Order: sequence, then C-alpha cells, then structure tokens
Amino acid sequence: MYSLSEVARVHTDLGPTDIDHLQRLVANWGLLADLSFTDLLLFATDASAHRGGTAASSTRQYVVLAQVRPTTSQTLYPSDLVGSLASAVERPLVDRCYRSGETIGADEIVAEEEVAHSVRAVPVRHGGRIIGVLASEGLPSGGRRHGELETAYLNAFGHLARMVSVGDFPFPGTEDPLKELPRVGDGVILLGADGRVQYSSPNAVSALHRLGVVVQVEGATFGQLGLDEAVVRNSTGQRQPATAELSRGTHTNVLVHAVPLLGRSAVVGVLLVLRDISDLRRLDRLLVSKDTHIREIHHRVKNNLQTISSLLRIQARRVSSPEAREAIEESVRRIGSIAVVHETLSREAGDDVPFSDIARPIIRMVEESLVSPERPVRFGLVGDSPTLHADVATPLALVLTELLQNTVDHAYRGPAASTEGDDPGQVVVTVTGPVELNGRSSVVVEVRDDGVGLPEGFSLETSTGLGLSIVGTLVCNELEGSIAMTGRPDEQAGTVVTVTVPLERRTD
Ligand SMILES: Nc1ncnc2c1ncn2[C@@H]1O[C@H](COP(=O)(O)OP(=O)(O)O)[C@@H](O)[C@H]1O
Ligand SMILES: [Mg+2]
Repeated sequence: MYSLSEVARVHTDLGPTDIDHLQRLVANWGLLADLSFTDLLLFATDASAHRGGTAASSTRQYVVLAQVRPTTSQTLYPSDLVGSLASAVERPLVDRCYRSGETIGADEIVAEEEVAHSVRAVPVRHGGRIIGVLASEGLPSGGRRHGELETAYLNAFGHLARMVSVGDFPFPGTEDPLKELPRVGDGVILLGADGRVQYSSPNAVSALHRLGVVVQVEGATFGQLGLDEAVVRNSTGQRQPATAELSRGTHTNVLVHAVPLLGRSAVVGVLLVLRDISDLRRLDRLLVSKDTHIREIHHRVKNNLQTISSLLRIQARRVSSPEAREAIEESVRRIGSIAVVHETLSREAGDDVPFSDIARPIIRMVEESLVSPERPVRFGLVGDSPTLHADVATPLALVLTELLQNTVDHAYRGPAASTEGDDPGQVVVTVTGPVELNGRSSVVVEVRDDGVGLPEGFSLETSTGLGLSIVGTLVCNELEGSIAMTGRPDEQAGTVVTVTVPLERRTD
C-alpha cells in the first residue's frame, strides 16, 4: 500500500502545496463518501511516461492517488486501486472532467467491470488550477426514488463536491491535517441558510433525545431546541469547520462537528455530524476512579505493613537474646523498605515511581537505625532518578536497604575501623539511568563507602550472610540483573557495590 505522497512523487508533476491540498482533501473525504453512498477515487495525470524525453504515447494516462469506501453503502471496489493507471480511453469521464474543468456526471461502463457505474467526476481545484479529479462511483439508481435521508445526504454531498471543484474544500487554514472529520455513522443534521433544521437523520434524532431534545426538530434553530448555538455560529462566521461537545448531566456527551456549506458568495447551510461519545467519557471517568482506587489500596497495604512492623518491634523488646533482637530488627527494616514503595505508589498516579522518591526515605530509615555508632556516617544521593515500575521498585528498595545497612553494620565498625578524629564516614549512592545495556534499558546503582573495606578473602559467591543472599536472589533471579562488590578503584579504603538492573521486566 503506497501513500498518496509516494504515488504523487513517482507519477505526477504536482508540487508540494498541491500534494498538501490533496492530502487534506483525503484526510476529510470519508464524509463525502458516506454522504454520496459511493466509492471515491482521486485521479491525477500520470507524468512518468513522458519523463526522460520519450513521449511514449499521445493518450493521457491517469493514476489513482487515493481511494475511500463508503460506510453507508456497499463498495464497488473491494481491491486496492491506489497506484494503478488508467488511460483517457478507459476513463473518458475523468479525462473530460480534467480537460474541461467541469463537473461531469453520467453512467459509464468502467473497464474490466461488467456493470455500469454511475460516475460523477469532480475537478479538484487548487490555486485556480485543476490538480486532480475526484470520481464518485456507485451503482446507478435506476430511476428509483430516493428516500428522505438519501436526498438530504446527496444534497449535502452536492454542496461539498461543488466546494471541491472551486477549491473551497478541503478548508484552508491552520487545522491539524491529521485530525479526521467524523464519519456519518452517529447522525447528521442539515441546517439551511437560515440556521433552521432541514433534515435530521434517525441517529441524530436519537442523539438529540439523549440530550433532552424531545420536540420536533425540523424547522427549529439550534437555539430554539435549547442547544448551544456557538458551534453553528463559529462555523458560519469563520467559514471553517467547528467542533463542540454538548452534554446533559454527567451521562450524555455528544460531539458535534459543524461544516459550513459554502455557496458562490454566502454560506448556504451547515452540515452537522454528531457522534455520541458518552461511553468514551464514562470510560475516562472510570479510569480516573480506578486509579484512585489503586492508590487507596497501596495506602492500605502500607498501613498494614506498618502494623506488622509495630508488632515485630514490640516482640523484639521482649526477647532477651541480642541476636534474636537484631534479627527481628532487620526484618522490621526490610518490611519498612517495602512499605516505602507502597507509600510512594499511593501518592503517584499510575504504577511508576521516580527512583529518588524511594531512595530518599530508605536512606532516612537507615540513618534512623544508626544507634550509637562508633563513627558517624553521612549519606548522599547523586545522579539520575529514572522512573521505576512498581515490579522493579519493590525488590530494588529491598536491595538498597541491605546495601546501606551493610555500610552501617560493617564499614565503620570492628577492630579495623578508625576511631581517630571525628571525620564522619561518607556513603554515596550514585544512580545512572536509564542506560542501554545488553539491549535493555537499565539502571546502575552504586553504593560506595570509605570504610574498612571487605574482609580478607571475601567473595560474593561464598558469603553466607542473609543480607547479601537476599540481594543476590533479588538482583540475579528476580530482576535479571547483575551485582559486583570490590574495593575502591581509587586506592582508598572502602567498598563499592554496583548493581545493574533492567528497568523493564520481560513479559513472558
Ligand atoms: N560495605 C561493606 N564494608 C565491609 N564489609 C562488608 C560490606 N558489606 C558487606 N560486607 C561483608 O559481607 C558480609 C555479608 O554481609 P551480609 O550478607 O549483609 O550479612 P550480615 O550483614 O548479616 O553480616 C558482612 O558480614 C561483611 O563482612
Ligand atoms: Mg547485612
């Protein structure tokens, strides 16, 4: 499937502003297909055969730049025609329209199709020149009388097609070309030049009912129906499409898109396309309330964890063995670090938390646990603060707690620790990320102290402490990351622990 601009570049001599005009036409022409109940094809003259000096043939060739099918009727073209060529002989109406600059409508047998198509060929004018032909193709009505809806839609299409032929459609201006006009599906209202409703489709009547309009709408103005007229006024005043959302209570929301129908000099009417977006709005509200719900649950989990911590603390006070007490206190800290994550998630919208929002309270918690230290310790947090998903934040919070606690427990204690002077110990947590490592977006957390360093012959693999085995399990198994523990590279005393963890969990 080729894009319009690709086909135009390869096959035509159209300049960028012409291509832009055609692109904006195509962005908005679903409405035209729906109103006309026909397939639309956009033709431009094919210049590729004449390039390179050899005038290959005298008959003009046309190339299909774009195609759209109606949602209100069956398509004549199940296949994709974009990029295909047709000669002037095969497409006489398109050719006549292009050469004369007149809109031409007739029934013709389109090559390779056995049935007659009713074709209306509309010249596409831009800057006073014909730059293409819009062909609207459907089955002939065969003398059948049109119903009210068909008549009204075809009437609106007639206005829009005329606007295409004089360069008034697509509308010039600043509107985002990617913002498509709504399709006819949910309802159409046609206003006359006097602003009174000439026709409203059954779906439009239903939408108006939901907005509380229960009176006969034909013949009334928007204002008389109790609806906000601003959207109509804006579209006719500015000769540009306008959009508004009409609502009733909190349950009904209808998007109204107003397209002015421009006559030779004045606005001859307004085409209103309605779309009921109540369900969309309800979903929006539901998502918001779901989000508050999730936050509320994080809050409760945090409270429960705090209760568990309190119970353990009470129990710690009752045991006499210092070893047992210490073990319970470690558990209290681990639970506390999980509570930190839930606390943060209860304040944030969504499942993501910035790293520093977790690291800061954990540092504070470890600082508080420093009971009568042999040497005071200061903590610093530097570097980035990548966003962590809740899945990653909880184990990483536990890991950070263990590493910080180890600096307090081991780096500044014991026979090797210097007690000279009152030089405090310095522990710095450095965060780098997100960084791309092994093809995965990762975070690198380094905990560096200037303490006594690792014991002689220490190795992570053979270490039997509970803290580092928790760290190892979480980092290597759960987070699929890696961990390294070394002396300081700068020849100074101390330890550096580096943890590297992917930010995204694998989904499988
Ligand atoms: N920052 C550090 N400085 C010096 N030694 C450390 C440091 N971190 C860990 N260690 C050494 O690693 C050992 C294992 O730590 P860990 O698994 O947390 O168990 P625990 O803290 O209960 O002793 C510690 O006993 C200590 O000898
Ligand atoms: Mg430890």
